[in-house]
Amino acid sequence: MREYKIEALMRIFEMAELSKADQELVEAAKRATAGSYAPYSKFRVGAAVRLQDGTIVCGANQENAAFPSGLCAERTALFAANAQYPDQPVVALAIAAQKGRQYLAQPISPCGACRQVISGVEDRYGQPIRILLYGTDGVLVSDGINPLLPLRFVDDNMRLG
Ligand code: THU
Repeated sequence: MREYKIEALMRIFEMAELSKADQELVEAAKRATAGSYAPYSKFRVGAAVRLQDGTIVCGANQENAAFPSGLCAERTALFAANAQYPDQPVVALAIAAQKGRQYLAQPISPCGACRQVISGVEDRYGQPIRILLYGTDGVLVSDGINPLLPLRFVDDNMRLG
């Protein structure tokens, strides 16, 4: 038997400690909660994606009476960005969530399916995506999806030896 140790490093920042670009992206994610359609969960999530050329694309969770047909804010934003600007690598993604119109104190973290999609977008452009998880108590930052999804499935896994 051998051990395989997995370590993850994330950092928590005050908003004022973030770069202007990161602050702008977090503010865009907060504003994006306005586009949430969440009549079932009443949980409003906004996401904002920054592309290499500085373009910001936003998304928000979209729910459906057939629950699994809805989509999280993160994938809404990433798929919209990739569909509209396929040649622009994604460099950062910010997320903010509201319950009862109040931003949460503790940041929410992307669901497993969104983590896999973030991983796929990293692989597509060959560079890590800086992830900013907003909470009023602080912003949790990860440089890339790896700390959130260690041992992830990547397309290399499908290539023959
Ligand atoms: N949701 C997101 O949009 N992003 C997350 O990271 C977690 C969950 C949405 C999906 C659903 O509309 C609602 O929040 C409750 O799960």
